[in-house]
This record gives sequence, C-alpha cells and structure tokens, in this order.
Amino acid sequence: MKRLSTLALTSIVALTAGVSAAQADKLTLYCSAQEDWCQLMARSFEDATGIDVDMTRKSSGETFAQIKAESTNPRGDVWWGGTGDPHLQAAEENLTAAYVSPMRAELHDWAISQATSAGDKTIGIYSGALGYGYNTELLAGNNLPEPSCWMDLTKPEYKGHVQMANPNSSGTAYTTLASMVQIFGEDEGFEFMKGLHANINQYTKSGSAPIKAAGRGETTIGIVFMHDAVAQAVAGFPVKVVAPCEGTGYEIGSMSIIEGARNMDEAKQFYDWALSADAQNLALQVNAFQVPSNVGAETSPSAPDMSTIKLIDYDFKTYGSSDERKRLLQKWDEDVSTLPQ
Ligand code: G6P
Repeated sequence: MKRLSTLALTSIVALTAGVSAAQADKLTLYCSAQEDWCQLMARSFEDATGIDVDMTRKSSGETFAQIKAESTNPRGDVWWGGTGDPHLQAAEENLTAAYVSPMRAELHDWAISQATSAGDKTIGIYSGALGYGYNTELLAGNNLPEPSCWMDLTKPEYKGHVQMANPNSSGTAYTTLASMVQIFGEDEGFEFMKGLHANINQYTKSGSAPIKAAGRGETTIGIVFMHDAVAQAVAGFPVKVVAPCEGTGYEIGSMSIIEGARNMDEAKQFYDWALSADAQNLALQVNAFQVPSNVGAETSPSAPDMSTIKLIDYDFKTYGSSDERKRLLQKWDEDVSTLPQ
C-alpha cells in the first residue's frame, strides 16, 4: 500500500511537471491579418521553436473588444496583424504591454514611429493603402461606368453594387471611415458615408470579405485595402484595383503583446521572430501583398506601389485614440447605419 501510494505520488508529481512543461511551451495568438497568413505564421513559428500555437483569426475591432473584455483575466498572449488604430487604442487603454525588441533596428521608420507614439506597446509589421476593386465582368454586364474616385461610389447607378465591412468589427472599414473624415472634413466625410450607405448591399464582418465576394461575382465593387484586391486579381478573378482619385488613407498593420500574458517569454519570442525578414517573407507564399516593416524583407512585385498612390498624411495619433475611435463609431452607428437603404 505504502509502495503504491509512493508510486502514485511520483506519477502525480511527474504528471504535474509534464503539464507545467507543456504549459510553458505554448502561445495563444490572436490574429487579425488574412486567415491563410495567420495559419502560416502560427505553423512556421511552431516549426521554428517547438512552441505550440493556438491561433484564432478575428477582425481588428473584434479582437480589440475581446482583449478588452478579457482584461481582468487575459487569455491571449500576442495580437498579430490588423490595422494599427485599434492597436493604438489598446495601448492607450493599457490592454497591451511595453516591449522593446532587439529586432527594432531592422525596421522602417514608419513601423518604429507606431511604437514610439504608443510607449512601445505596439509596433508596425506591414503597411498598405486603402482603395477598392471591382469585378470587370459584372461592371460591363450591368453597363456601369468604370469608377475611379471615392465620390463615384455614391452615384445612384451603383445602388446595390457596393460592399464594405462594418467599421465596428473591421479595421479596414474603420480606416475607410477615418480616411473619409480626413479627406473631406468631418461633415462632408459623413455625408459621403451616408451617400455610400444608400449603395451598400451588405456590411460584412471581415474587411477583405467584400473583394472576395466581388471575385466570386456576388457584388460588383468591394472597398478594401488595395493589396487585398490585388490578391484576388493574382488568383485569377476578374478584379480591377482602384487607387481613388481624391487620394486615400493607409494602415500600419501592427503587433502587440497582451498585458498580463500568461506566456510572456513565448510572446516575446514570437514578437522578435515576427519582426525578422525571414518570417515576414512568408507573406509571399500566401499572396499577402502588404509592404513588410523589416527593411530586409521582400516586397512582392505584385504589391501596389505606394510611391505612385496619392496617400494622405493619415493622423494615426488622433484616429487611433480611444476617444476619437469611440466617437466616430458611435456617430456612424447613429447617423449612418440606421438610415434606410
Ligand atoms: C486584411 C488585410 C490586412 C488588414 C486586415 C484587417 O487581412 O489584408 O492588411 O490589416 O484585413 O482586417 P479587418 O477584418 O479588421 O478589416
């Protein structure tokens, strides 16, 4: 009996040690870039380190809301990808942790400035310009003129032909809302959003869904980041990419470590790895055509050429602030989304 209980105790101790060793070797990753890229990042990090990754893909606004809801009992370790504004808001609300990676010297200035403006609680991993794309066959089939400006999308002939995501869930759509306010001024920007609303056939949850739908012929036009439209064209769908004539906003796709992360060492390991040129080059395998933040990483020749696009001087500090993001979303909910279509 005594021998038995000693044996039992030994195995419990061994089991407990085993469990805690396994716990020490895992990472919970919240991912807001495109699903296939999220999967590839998770599997490649596992292969590189032996650390098990539990990855969930959700849109930027949704992930922000989840991290906030879990803040008293954090479940995620790293939030990788998605537009920078909600990452900045998370930093301001102390939902994410400061970390200065030794990899920082390898990054473009625009990626580092995201970090310095947020007390090192976030950092840029890629950038990309906003625009839209359309299905050339559907456009021709419906005898519609080729749109080239933002304002074109509010014309009555495009009624029912335009799709975008909901700015509450999607960082892409929030970037659209904030860009319109910056391009046209707040009053005119909201007039634009109302005119656009009259032509919208569906607000999706995820930012890139509208251009995938355009590729499949389910909507004519999708408002997305231009690189998401390029990905559809490269995949063989009849999609043409538009850089709107008035100029456009852009994102600094970002990464943050979640405050109170249970697996802090693994989180830092992932963070350093994700800033390396090799990890960023994985994007090329899944047609992710963003501009990478590591100066040594490759930008695909298919990626939209940022130097030829009329980019606004997007004010990340203002539009990534907690008060402003909340205010604009509430105003859109009350003044735009409730209007009849
Ligand atoms: C796509 C884009 C990313 C962007 C992300 C935001 O995956 O390729 O560049 O950061 O959308 O997703 P969301 O669903 O929040 O708009």
